[in-house]
Amino acid sequence: MRNATAIALWTAWAAWAQTANPVAGDPASVEVGRGIFRIYCSPCHGIRGEGGKGPSLLQGTLHTGGSDAELYQAIAAGIPGTEMPGFGGALTADGVWRVVAFLRSVNQPGTPFIPGDRVEGERLFWTKGGCGQCHRVGTRGGRFGPELSRIGRARTLQHLRESIENPGRDVAAGFATVSVVTRDGRRIVGIERGRDNFSVRLLDAQEQYHSFLKEDVQSIQPETRSLMPSYRNVFTAKELDDLLAYLASLTAAAPGR
Ligand code: HEC
Ligand code: HEC
Repeated sequence: MRNATAIALWTAWAAWAQTANPVAGDPASVEVGRGIFRIYCSPCHGIRGEGGKGPSLLQGTLHTGGSDAELYQAIAAGIPGTEMPGFGGALTADGVWRVVAFLRSVNQPGTPFIPGDRVEGERLFWTKGGCGQCHRVGTRGGRFGPELSRIGRARTLQHLRESIENPGRDVAAGFATVSVVTRDGRRIVGIERGRDNFSVRLLDAQEQYHSFLKEDVQSIQPETRSLMPSYRNVFTAKELDDLLAYLASLTAAAPGR
């Protein structure tokens, strides 16, 4: 038993310390990696790695760093402070290396072409768009919506476009809308910021917190719509491209690193 633990630890350490992928370029391993990817990764990264809710892993530099070891680390341990979970528990070291081999086989290094003018997009973000009222970038902006300092890494262009035109379609994790009706008939809509056996807390669009004791509440209903307004038809096609170019350029380091 002790031995088995020691061996497991050693294997984990060996995989950790290894800098080169032992199965790099091996066609059979790439295929196994593709299968693992479909099961564990495609819900966020798309069936071929083209991206969806999470970033595309096909095009451009993998921001995690140049080396296979860094990719291994990101997949095994996750990226702290982001939605990227760790798979060290679900996959063996071998499995992770095969996924790395698969990613290498489909990734084309180089910077993807992004139409639009980043500087103009930044201006729109803080002026016409009013995005900064609800979103923080770096140290500036509001706190009602998710911080966007890293959004260019976390989302594909397609998903960003959708977030702007159709925010209700896929509400960001941790930003679920709820409506609370109190016993005296008031209805308050906001983002849920905590609930326990006795109370519930909401943040409304004016960034005001509301705290309710459960005994004072008639109902708590989840809402499917987002509290972000839709910007469909607000921007010209060119303005939207500019805005997307700005968002794509927001690639701050992960908070946990
Ligand atoms: C729950 C959704 C989700 C799942 C499942 C998921 N990822 Fe991720 N992944 C993300 C998100 C979101 C990011 C971007 C994190 C960030 O940098 O803000 C990411 C980032 C990454 C990165 C870094 C990309 C870069 O540019 O460096 C790699 C590599 C990666 N994921 C691989 C995988 C692999 C392989 C799997 C399956 C074993 C997987 N992911 C499963 C959501 C997910
Ligand atoms: C009234 C506040 C408000 C304004 C103004 C606003 N947003 Fe949002 N935004 C939110 C909220 C709340 C969410 C989280 C719910 C959701 O995902 O729909 C969100 C989500 C997002 C997301 C998805 C974030 C993620 O982590 O997936 C993006 C991207 C985004 N907003 C961009 C913008 C841009 C660009 C503008 C300006 C054109 C803008 N927002 C204006 C409140 C706002």
